[in-house]
Amino acid sequence: MKTEIGIIGAGPAGLFLAHLLGRAGIEAVILESRTREEVEGTIRAGVLEQWVVDLMRDLGLAARLDQNADFHTGITLQWNGERLHLDMRELTGGKQVTVYPQHEVLRDLIAGLLAAGGDIRFGVGETALHEITGERPFITFRPDKTGPETRLDCAYIVGADGYHGPSRQAIPEAARREFHKIYPFGWLGILARAPRSWHELIYANQAEGFALLSTRSPDVQRLYLQCDPADDLALWPDRRIWDELQARLSAPGFTLIEGPIFQKGIIPLRSFVCETMHYGRLFLAGDAAHIVPPTGAKGLNLAVADVVVLAAALIARVQHNDGEKLARYSETALRRVWKGERFSWYMTTMLHRNPTEGEFERRIHFADLDFVRTSRAAATALAENYVGLPFDR
Ligand code: FAD
Ligand code: DHB
Repeated sequence: MKTEIGIIGAGPAGLFLAHLLGRAGIEAVILESRTREEVEGTIRAGVLEQWVVDLMRDLGLAARLDQNADFHTGITLQWNGERLHLDMRELTGGKQVTVYPQHEVLRDLIAGLLAAGGDIRFGVGETALHEITGERPFITFRPDKTGPETRLDCAYIVGADGYHGPSRQAIPEAARREFHKIYPFGWLGILARAPRSWHELIYANQAEGFALLSTRSPDVQRLYLQCDPADDLALWPDRRIWDELQARLSAPGFTLIEGPIFQKGIIPLRSFVCETMHYGRLFLAGDAAHIVPPTGAKGLNLAVADVVVLAAALIARVQHNDGEKLARYSETALRRVWKGERFSWYMTTMLHRNPTEGEFERRIHFADLDFVRTSRAAATALAENYVGLPFDR
């Protein structure tokens, strides 16, 4: 097989990239190890930055989003008996918070790509990268995991295969530098069949720890609470989850409505960056190159930002023989990535109860929140990051 751009991974990064390239008339093939049903059924992120929504509209993929997404003007922060509503729309000149789950975005992207004649191979096995420093890189894989080894020749390879994929490992250790930070807490996330308790997201830092109220639809709610990342789900029967959420989200005039929990999972929180995102003819995008803790809702948005930069660079190279943007891809993308890392770290440290920190740090986090409450500049800085920073052209 032969294509222009070989993409590994059909997550947000790989799929948006294929759309952007396809729109410019550049051929790409996506190799994905999971089945379409698995990709479309995995519950992950929920918040889209304004420009991602605009991009979906631009690509003609927003019909279901416009019908089903929740559009919020702001978010609520809650700590130490205080409650602050941040009006993002007013602070950012009209941008808003869109709640539309990642798996719905993926359904829209996959359906749109297949309808446009795009090539996605689901369920492949043993994906391996070859000759990435040469002129003719290629990927080998087994269709349906067990089929005969197949070779995909391409001009460039994009590793959009998440944190555990093989692409980053294809860069020699001596050629990359990795930055890791592990937080001493995780998130227990649930989906519950219940009506909405509040019209917007609530991020709470209470004595018992962090909690987040989000939504999925008028009758399905998404909630998270800080837990020990090593906890077994068996330690968290439904009653304990609701009791903790009630304690952490409680506020005058607010009632948390409970309902049957039908999905539960625990994720660890970590920050990770791989410098470089480019080696030979291999380019990394999304979680393959960087992870953020979810508190700022940045993971998916950063993945899409990478491929917006990368698509423009690949188009310039392939169609206009101009390789300058491609040579600077890693540097350009990492500038935005580090700002996303900073914001996610800031929101995470400010809003969690850190078992390894003392009362001094806790007061500092309350002071940080009080600064956001009392300073328009601080509130605007938070809002600008939350709805999505402008691209640095
Ligand atoms: P991914 O979505 O991980 O896509 C990578 C794809 O590559 C996957 O489909 C994978 O199957 C495929 N792949 C892997 N290895 C191979 C291989 N060898 N061959 C072929 N294909 C391969 N972000 C938030 O903002 N808020 C959240 O609440 C949140 N919750 C999360 C919960 C979990 C459990 C996880 C893992 C992430 C969460 N994130 C969250 C982060 C967000 O979902 C990611 O940042 C986003 O999915 C990144 O997109 P991506 O395309 O880079 O990678
Ligand atoms: C959701 C996830 C987040 O990480 C966040 O900051 C806000 C909302 C969600 O899944 O709805």
